Order: sequence, then structure tokens, then C-alpha cells
Amino acid sequence: MQDKMKIGIIGCGSISGAYFGGAQKTDALEIKSCADIRMEAAQNAAKKYSCQAVTVDELLADPEIELVVNLTVPRAHVEVGLQALQAGKHVYSEKPLGVSFEEGQKLIRLAAEKGLHVGCAPDTFLGAGGQTARKAMDEGAIGRPIAGTAFMCGHGHESWHPNPTFFYDIGGGPMLDMGPYYVTALVNILGPVKRVAGVTTKAFEERIATSSGASGQRIPVKVSTHLTGAMEFANGAVITMIMSFDMRRHSLPCIELYGTEGSMKVPDPNGFGGPVLVALAKGEGWQEISSAFPQNARMIGVIDMVCAIRSGRAHRASGDLAYHVLEVMTAFDKSSQTGQHIEMQTTVERPNPFPSGLNEWEVDD
Ligand SMILES: NC(=O)c1ccc[n+]([C@@H]2O[C@H](COP(=O)([O-])OP(=O)(O)OC[C@H]3O[C@@H](n4cnc5c(N)ncnc54)[C@H](O)[C@@H]3O)[C@@H](O)[C@H]2O)c1
Repeated sequence: MQDKMKIGIIGCGSISGAYFGGAQKTDALEIKSCADIRMEAAQNAAKKYSCQAVTVDELLADPEIELVVNLTVPRAHVEVGLQALQAGKHVYSEKPLGVSFEEGQKLIRLAAEKGLHVGCAPDTFLGAGGQTARKAMDEGAIGRPIAGTAFMCGHGHESWHPNPTFFYDIGGGPMLDMGPYYVTALVNILGPVKRVAGVTTKAFEERIATSSGASGQRIPVKVSTHLTGAMEFANGAVITMIMSFDMRRHSLPCIELYGTEGSMKVPDPNGFGGPVLVALAKGEGWQEISSAFPQNARMIGVIDMVCAIRSGRAHRASGDLAYHVLEVMTAFDKSSQTGQHIEMQTTVERPNPFPSGLNEWEVDD
């Protein structure tokens, strides 16, 4: 077996615990150091998860660290990612890849120039739900996919997140915050998107936080908070989408897909598990598809990336996938502003599915 890859984490906020926890489940990698612009956040994480707290510069200067996991806020993703690439490290970023298509392009280009790898969340599609839905679609469970719906509707995160400002800053909003789960899940099942038509708006110019730690904080809303539209996929399927932080209550499903022979309910793409249900034209209602995949959790995308770098194969939660997804997501606002359909400039091959029979936290070589 090869040595564990030493990695560093930059950004030790709310989501970092999931990554530190996931790292303890694998022999493929080891978190050597963590850093944050708030040194006390790095120190707290280092103490809890037995690694060393260092400054961002020290982490990037450490020749032992091969890969940086970037868990900063969306606006810092590309800036921190570029620094890591310049320092000769591979980068795996939390979503979104960048706050604009043009920004994401800088990261992808520099990585290609340097011969380094970019990975990006979400990795939820590598869970049992996403892999089971992909397998069922590939095996023709509902025939040829024709249409579908993708809905993520709520009232935003200021009621629970300790630092909710970034959800309404450039790079936030329901599309760039939650859209990555939905669009990535759909691309994994259906393939790349060809064009997008969108209508987008926002209901409030300001939000007032009610979460503990931020209660009473006034948050300016700088992004669309209700985005609707349709994505036409290269395979011909047309998916209707709503991503909203402006809806108090609803009864819409996460993702449903409609094919020539039947329909499929795909579980919440912001989670790793959940049942995949199929109903056929002449069947007996919704039937659960049995899953041959482990549930997994956050960090499986990094583990897959590390193993792929070691063995020279492609990794699944890749920068190219996230870059295409970023183009799709940002096209909703572009379409709304211009009144035009937006044709995608990028395309991507679907990531290879996991083989069945893997154990929890295990990837193929
Ligand atoms: N919180 C969640 O439930 C959740 C879930 C999935 C994904 N995410 C994603 O994870 C990322 C982080 O979210 P979070 O909720 O942990 O946010 P957070 O605000 O709790 O943590 C972000 C951390 O990054 C640090 N930081 C910001 N800019 C930095 C920089 N330039 N250099 C070094 N450190 C910097 C901040 O000090 C903070 O500690 C976001 O992209 C978010 O979309 C969050």
C-alpha cells in the first residue's frame, strides 16, 4: 500500500467537522495541518482532531502537503484555490467552484497549466442514493428520460447558521448554495446540459438573522433568491427547476424524472442515502429499487480524488464537472437578464459510476 497522502484543510468553520470526521474513516489520507484566517478556529479544530494549526502561508509552504481541502466561504474559493495551485498543491474545494463562470475558469486553467488536479464538492452523488439512481437509469428502469423536476425551496439559512451573511453575498443564493447538489446529481444521471432558460428574482432586499450567534444581524441580499427555469440536457431530457430561499412552505419533491416507460423519484441530493423509487406505466405504484452501494458521507469525494491521483485514473467529483455545473447554474441569471436561452460552452463526461460491492468509505483503485 502507498503512503497516506498528507493533506491540509483551509477553512475551519461549520462544515469542517464533517471533513475531519470523514478523514478518520480512511487509510488513504491524513490531515496534517489546518488553517483559517481566524487562528482560534484552526486551533480549536486542531485540538479536537489531533492535527497542527498553522497559518495559511505555513500550510501552503509545507512540502509534505500534497492536497489542500478548501472549506472557506464561496467568495474565497478561487482565491485560496489559486494560491494552493501556485504552491504546487492539488485542490479540492467546497461548492461552488467559484462565484462566476469566469472565476471558475481561472482555477481550471491554472490547474491544467501546472499539471495539478482540481476536485470540488458536492460528493453526495457518490452516496447510495445517487449511485442507485444512476444505475437504475443506465439499466433502463424508466426507459428513455424525457423530462423531470428539481425543487429546492425554503426560506434560507439565517435561522440556523452562525454566520449566514455569505448565503446572500455574491456566490450565495439558493442556486450557488444548493444548486450544486441538484445539478450535479442530474448530470451524474443524465449527462451534460446543452442550454438553459431562466427567470430569476428576489423577494427581500435585506434579511434579519435569527440564528444564535448572529441574531438581529441585518444581511443585505446581493443575489437572486428565487430562480426558476428549464435545463435542456444533451440527451434531450428537459428538467424544470426551482431553487428558492423565498418560500415559507411547499410540498414539492426534490427530484423526479419521467421516462418513456415510467417515473423515478431521486432522493434528496443534499444527502447521501434515501430510497430510489420507480413507478412503471402498468406497474403497482412506487417500488423501491434495492441498492448495492454504501451510503458514504462528506469526504468520499476527496478520498476518491486521492486514490485516483495515486493510481492515475480520473476522479469523480472533479473540477471539470463542477465547472460545467457552475456554468449551468450561473446561466439562470444570465438568461433572465438577457431574455435569451443560454447555450453551454462547456460539456463534461459523466463521472464513472462506482462498481457495486464496495464497502463504506471504500473506492475502486
Ligand atoms: N455549513 C454547512 O452545512 C455546509 C454544508 C455543505 C457545504 N458547505 C459549504 O462549505 C463552505 C464553508 O461553509 P461553512 O458553513 O463551514 O462556513 P463558515 O463561515 O462556518 O466557515 C468558513 C470558514 O472559512 C474561513 N475563511 C474565510 N475566508 C478565508 C480565507 N480567505 N482564508 C482562510 N480561511 C478563510 C472563515 O474564517 C471560517 O472559519 C461554503 O462553501 C459552504 O457552501 C457548508
